[in-house]
Amino acid sequence: MTNFAGLARLRNVIKQVTSRAEAEGDTDSQEFVDFCHMQLQELISCDDWLPEEFAAAHPDHYQQYLLHCDPLERFSLISFVWGPGQKTPIHNHETWGLIGMLRGSEISQAYEVADEGGLVPGRHEVLNPGDIAFVSPEAGDIHEVINAFEDQVSISIHLYGANIGVVERSVYEPASGRSRPFVSGYASALTPNIWGLSA
Ligand SMILES: [Fe+2]
Repeated sequence: MTNFAGLARLRNVIKQVTSRAEAEGDTDSQEFVDFCHMQLQELISCDDWLPEEFAAAHPDHYQQYLLHCDPLERFSLISFVWGPGQKTPIHNHETWGLIGMLRGSEISQAYEVADEGGLVPGRHEVLNPGDIAFVSPEAGDIHEVINAFEDQVSISIHLYGANIGVVERSVYEPASGRSRPFVSGYASALTPNIWGLSA
């Protein structure tokens, strides 16, 4: 059943971030990212709002459902759903990203490209509900994300400083560190209806 109060919270976060983007101008600023962090923290503080269609795991691979993209593509909000044991390839983002854990648990394993080629493992973060991880070209942009559970679905809500589904990014071969171009797209043809809220 649709949780209208939950969708109203989602709508409010979108509204707050849009207003701040308008006021801030520079959506790569630390101030804007800090504001987005606060809004994402609020959104993931309660796991009662994500519509079922945007929480559905695929049997073979992870899903990324677009929840909202700013019309000026200054930010996008995505629901990432990992089935048991699923993980991303090693990839980068080319923009800042906040990864907020909603349900289950996941591992974010960072990598750096070594001078002599190849990838060197970096920070290993275990995210539990309420935790937020950060990626950016400046702070460390290469990682893989792994569902920490072999027997349950995990879901995180990501807020990026671009329309992440169309950004030209890279995926990396673990052994050689060689990269190839990657554009993720979105798994969903629809976004949640946050506008038809019942009285
Ligand atoms: Fe990522």
